[in-house]
Amino acid sequence: MGLLTDKVVVITGSGRGIGKETAKICANEGARVVVNDIDPEPALETVEEIRKNGGQATAYIGDISDESAAADLINLAKNAFGKIDALVNNAGITRDALLVRMETEKWDEIMRVHLRGGFFMHKKRSSRDDKTKNGWSDNKSIFSCRFERKYRTSKLFCCESWTYGFYLNFGKRA
Ligand SMILES: NC(=O)c1ccc[n+]([C@@H]2O[C@H](COP(=O)([O-])OP(=O)(O)OC[C@H]3O[C@@H](n4cnc5c(N)ncnc54)[C@H](O)[C@@H]3O)[C@@H](O)[C@H]2O)c1
Repeated sequence: MGLLTDKVVVITGSGRGIGKETAKICANEGARVVVNDIDPEPALETVEEIRKNGGQATAYIGDISDESAAADLINLAKNAFGKIDALVNNAGITRDALLVRMETEKWDEIMRVHLRGGFFMHKKRSSRDDKTKNGWSDNKSIFSCRFERKYRTSKLFCCESWTYGFYLNFGKRA
C-alpha cells in the first residue's frame, strides 16, 4: 500500500518537468492523478506513462489562468474520482529580463499564470458547498534568482498568502 492510496491529486502544469515527476511519484504511491497542462501532447504523455506503470490518471488540457478552464479542471477531478485531496499549483512560466529591459507584457504574463491561475485554482477548489475540501495545497517554490523580480513577486504572494490561508481555512494534512 502506497503513501497516497485512495487520495486524489490535481497537479497543474504536469506535462513537463517538476509537475510531471510529481504526478508520477504520486501515482506510484497509489494516488489517482489529474494531470493538467496548457499543451496537450505532454499532458497526454504523462497520463500514458502513469497508466503504463499501472497507475490511474486522467488529463485536462487547459490554461489555468482562464477561470472557466480552472473550474472545468476541478469539476473533471471531482467527476472522475469523486473528490480532491490535494492540489499542486505547479504550472509556471519564466520570462527572464533585467528590470530596465522588462516589458510590461511579460510582467503581465507572469502575473496572469502565477497569481490569476493560482487564485482560480484555489477559489474553485475551495467552493463553500464542497464537502471534499479537506486536504492539502502546495504552491510551487518561492525560490528564484535575484534578477527575476516579477517571478519572485508573484511566487511570494501566491505561496505565502494562499498556502497559509488555505491551510487555516480548510487544511488538514493528507
Ligand atoms: N525548475 C526550477 O529550477 C524551479 C525552481 C523553483 C520553482 N520552480 C517552479 O516550479 C514549477 C515547475 O517548474 P518546471 O521547471 O518544471 O517548469 P516547466 O516549464 O518544465 O513545466 C511547467 C509546465 O507548466 C505548463 N504551463 C505553463 N503555463 C500554464 C498554464 N497557464 N496552464 C496550464 N499549464 C501551464 C507548461 O506547459 C509546462 O508543461 C513552476 O511553477 C516554476 O516556477 C521551478
